Amino acid sequence: MTRFPETRLRRNRRAPWLRAMVRETLCSPANLIWPIFVTEADEAEPIATMPGVSRHPLSALKGLAKEAESLGIPAIALFPNTPAGKRSDDGAEALNPDNLVCRAVAEIKAATDAVGVMTDVALDPYTSHGHDGIVDPAMRVLNDPTVEVLVGQALNQARAGADIVAPSDMMDGRVGAIRRALEAAGHTDTHIMAYSAKYASGFYGPFRDAVGAAGRLKGDKAGYQMDPANVREALREVALDVAEGADSVMVKPGLPYLDVVRAVAEAERLPVFAYCVSGEYAMVEAAVAQGMLERERVVPEMMTAFRRAGAAGILTYHAPFLARWLQR
Ligand code: PBG
Repeated sequence: MTRFPETRLRRNRRAPWLRAMVRETLCSPANLIWPIFVTEADEAEPIATMPGVSRHPLSALKGLAKEAESLGIPAIALFPNTPAGKRSDDGAEALNPDNLVCRAVAEIKAATDAVGVMTDVALDPYTSHGHDGIVDPAMRVLNDPTVEVLVGQALNQARAGADIVAPSDMMDGRVGAIRRALEAAGHTDTHIMAYSAKYASGFYGPFRDAVGAAGRLKGDKAGYQMDPANVREALREVALDVAEGADSVMVKPGLPYLDVVRAVAEAERLPVFAYCVSGEYAMVEAAVAQGMLERERVVPEMMTAFRRAGAAGILTYHAPFLARWLQR
């Protein structure tokens, strides 16, 4: 190790061209996945807790898909806000081939082949109690009966044209069960992006408003989502999902869990994605609105941090903003 003055690290920071030459982490719109909320309504519905984000009507999806394509964003993740009348204790609407998310997939597929469509496998947008699965009278989420429904939900989405199914429910064994069912049904190319290390987090609050689950949820999700204190356990979750046939894995939330992203990226050889969740988006936008932070500074910096930690890509509500910023 040489020392000062032979070594002056500031030499490499002297000018923009030099900083560009030695930069270790690069960001591209190809590293973004854009989560989009969908409504049965005819007009866009702004989400109060996520300033700048709306639930979109089906009629808007073609335009949004074209926008993603022109921005170089490779994939859209769809989240439906199911009308109250179609929610039930067992979340059966998830199996309806004509449900909102299936129609949304079709809209995007009809608009362009250049953008991948990802759908969430979990029952919370469809249950009257807001949990991700089937519950017993004590409101415990039952693992194996839930996995059976999730398999049906994933098949329903694959049939509708989803390119990526993303189980976000945290039931044990669901990735393997979904993989076997997809193979048996001939959906051999459907990608499974497993929400492998999904934590029981307070940062999902605005999302639950967006999909209409907030007022409904009884209790919390700590019986199936992970304890924020654990990282060794995250590696076990990931290893199981890899063995069960996941094509990529995800860590969620994002910024507070970059150590988990790093650990997973080092332990495994498949792509690792990170979800910069609704509460993280809301924090940034609240600070920007009050003049406390500059969006143009902090949002690209956050993206760089995800990539530096080892994320192949980031699911973020700032995806269109970032893609424009990167293209400028
Ligand atoms: C549902 C699901 C959630 C998110 C993605 N899929 C919420 C939850 O688990 O309660 C959160 C996304 C966000 O907060 O942006 N299974």
